[in-house]
Amino acid sequence: MKKTQLIQKFNKQAAKYAKKRKKQEQNKWRKQIFQSAKGKTLEVAVGAGMNFAFYPKDIEYIGVDFSPQMIEQAKEAAKEYGINAKFIISDVESLNFPENSFDTIVSSGSLCSYEDPVHVLNLFNQWCKEDGRILLMEHGLFSVPALAWIQKKLDVFVVKAIGCHQNRDILDIVKQSNLIINKHERALLGYLYLIWANPQKIQ
Ligand SMILES: C[S@@+](CC[C@H](N)C(=O)[O-])C[C@H]1O[C@@H](n2cnc3c(N)ncnc32)[C@H](O)[C@@H]1O
Repeated sequence: MKKTQLIQKFNKQAAKYAKKRKKQEQNKWRKQIFQSAKGKTLEVAVGAGMNFAFYPKDIEYIGVDFSPQMIEQAKEAAKEYGINAKFIISDVESLNFPENSFDTIVSSGSLCSYEDPVHVLNLFNQWCKEDGRILLMEHGLFSVPALAWIQKKLDVFVVKAIGCHQNRDILDIVKQSNLIINKHERALLGYLYLIWANPQKIQ
């Protein structure tokens, strides 16, 4: 699908995501992983700002999304939760930051939509400081084979409807990148992937 079509698809979902934000305040997995954000923090594909409720208030935050409507919702969320935030409207896959720019890089529900998720993870590897952390909360293939089979069959239709792939093995994708996995957990029959990673600086 063309990027312009994808942006339109996500623009249309922005109000729905903003409504969901209140319910997400109780999300134990978001809390578990994103409360460990520290320092200069980049969140890619921020959407409507679902994670703001969980960040320590003293982070220096930059959020990126290619959907202007999502960014509008995220700005509201940052105000609501008292996060000192700056925003960039951009495609994450063609974004440029100097090496070692961030203490923390956050992604939730974004590896499902990139053309080349391994490339994006390798960008995180460059942008993250050597002693920094990459925090991922992603959805992907169930660990139950029958459910994973259904996801693979339905993938083409789900991408058309909402712009997200359902057929990705997130752990395998992260293993293909340069990142080092420090810890990982699965929940919801394996559908939800929580991954704490560190950059691997090749000298
Ligand atoms: C499934 S939503 C997740 C939003 C949010 N992170 C959350 O946890 O609710 C995917 C988000 O990624 C954004 N997105 C998808 N592909 C992108 C890309 N290549 N560059 C920037 N943003 C992208 C969409 O606009 C949307 O806001």
